[in-house]
Amino acid sequence: MKTISGRLRLLASTAALAVTLSNGAAMAESLVLYCSVGEEWCSAMANGFSRATGIDVAMTRKSSGETYAQLKAEASNPKGDVWWGGTGDPHLQAAEEGLTEEYTSPMLEKLQPWAVSQATSSGNRTVGIYAGALGFTYNTEVLEDKNLPVPSCWADLIKPEYKGEIQIANPNSSGTAYTALASLVQLLGEDAAFDYQKQLHNNINQYTKSGSAPAKAAARGETGIGINFMHDGVQQRVGGFPVKVIAPCEGTGYEIGSMSIVKGGPNPDAARKWYDWALTAEAQEIGASVKSFQVPSNVGAKVPPEAPSLDTVKLIDYDFKEYGSSATRQRLLSRWDDEIGSLN
Ligand code: G6P
Repeated sequence: MKTISGRLRLLASTAALAVTLSNGAAMAESLVLYCSVGEEWCSAMANGFSRATGIDVAMTRKSSGETYAQLKAEASNPKGDVWWGGTGDPHLQAAEEGLTEEYTSPMLEKLQPWAVSQATSSGNRTVGIYAGALGFTYNTEVLEDKNLPVPSCWADLIKPEYKGEIQIANPNSSGTAYTALASLVQLLGEDAAFDYQKQLHNNINQYTKSGSAPAKAAARGETGIGINFMHDGVQQRVGGFPVKVIAPCEGTGYEIGSMSIVKGGPNPDAARKWYDWALTAEAQEIGASVKSFQVPSNVGAKVPPEAPSLDTVKLIDYDFKEYGSSATRQRLLSRWDDEIGSLN
């Protein structure tokens, strides 16, 4: 039987051990990552960074518009360190609103001009990490079974024969869908783009939260056609699903997928380490290993052969400065809510 003093000695040494453990844990570097690409790529990046640096990563995956909203909601008490991935427009809006931190990475000189221009136009508060063009993914079996023609133009998608056959995300949560909205405005003019979306609405079976969901739904035959980034459709094709990917005949918009450091985040040193690492060729080649076929921004990173070539797609001269500005993005989204989101 232990004496009182023996018990006290035991308690004291247990407490000392607990203090040592908690000090040790506090010393391990960590990073809170907000990630806006597909779950698999987010996890592969988080693991790759931990392996390369020994820094623990706590990762949350959310769509681009949702992550922007989270940064805004947390502005007075930031919880995230880095926002990696997702379309560039909401990253530019966050930069303009002072939600993200200025940082000039020594890696900038290794990047494509379109990635650097994202940094230049934001006062180095964001940077391009990949690019991809918007298009359609269709399920060959669904269209064949329903005797529907293959759409090749934006104009085709509003034809009555596609009623209930098309899926796109909601542009408030999804950067992909906002890219579609801004691309249509740039292709047609704003009023005509909203008229077009009203007609398109008659054919939409669902506005999803995430931008890649329509490509996944097309792959599984849950929708005939998805409006999404072309590389998201290619991912499904490479995964063995009966889909094909189309670049719209009138021309289309594209994204500069981006990365930003959260202003006032808890781990600024780890955030800069992530930023520099994520711009290396090695880190950018992780994408292809999990079937993410965007064009990488590091000039030395291998462009996956499956990546839809931006040179062969008719791209509009997407005005990132205008459509990533806070005023324009807010105005277009509230017009979308009033005129399209309110329809049933
Ligand atoms: C997918 C694409 C990315 C894109 C992202 C935007 O993950 O592969 O290229 O940046 O969607 O996501 P969101 O859900 O915001 O449309």
